[in-house]
Amino acid sequence: MSRGRFIVLEGPDKCGKSTQAKFLARSLRRRKIPFIHTREPGGTRSAEAIRAVLLDPKLKVAPLAELLLYEASRAQHTREKILPALERGVWVLCERYSLATMAYQGCARGLSMPMIRTLDRIATGGLRPDLTVVLDIPESEFAARDRSRRLDRLELESAAFRKRVREGYRRLARRLPGCVLLNGRRPLAEVHEDIARRVLMK
Ligand SMILES: Nc1ncnc2c1ncn2[C@@H]1O[C@H](COP(=O)(O)OP(=O)(O)O)[C@@H](O)[C@H]1O
Ligand SMILES: [Mg+2]
Repeated sequence: MSRGRFIVLEGPDKCGKSTQAKFLARSLRRRKIPFIHTREPGGTRSAEAIRAVLLDPKLKVAPLAELLLYEASRAQHTREKILPALERGVWVLCERYSLATMAYQGCARGLSMPMIRTLDRIATGGLRPDLTVVLDIPESEFAARDRSRRLDRLELESAAFRKRVREGYRRLARRLPGCVLLNGRRPLAEVHEDIARRVLMK
């Protein structure tokens, strides 16, 4: 049995990751491809508990502690859920993974990139996605989309922070093997077509 494919959806807050993950899940189901849909931070019970700490707007979390919590969540998620699925031949569709940490904690918070890469390599055990899809949206889209949503600790950051996240993703995506940067400000169906074509290599 061949190993499952590890597909990651990335991009700034509200770029459309959850929406597109659902569309992609439908395409995989239709093709009878066995898969799981998961997310970071979180994905397992203990990693979701770490997520709750990370995203609680009432909590103070220092940048280094934030980085370590994301990597702790990733270490758990990778070992408990992602690797076992891939080894069973099941595809893993994951919202956010290592690239998010480079963009948020590296480019936006300003933590050392070599330190992040080292910690991330330890947390992932060297696992890399087969494909990372980054949905790119301008910062102005953040305020325009889904105004009713309650914002989490990271989403409450400034517009300047979001701009650094966006620019970070754009820069990192160009250099990362197996990564594509797609325009996320297009009709949902068009973005989906673009993602599905790359994931299913039609
Ligand atoms: N291509 C798009 N064009 C316009 N609105 C979109 C698009 N993709 C997603 N949205 C809307 O933006 C909001 C955030 O989308 P969501 O999928 O939850 O983003 P994320 O999971 O990346 O935070 C939702 O209200 C969603 O309906
Ligand atoms: Mg989402």
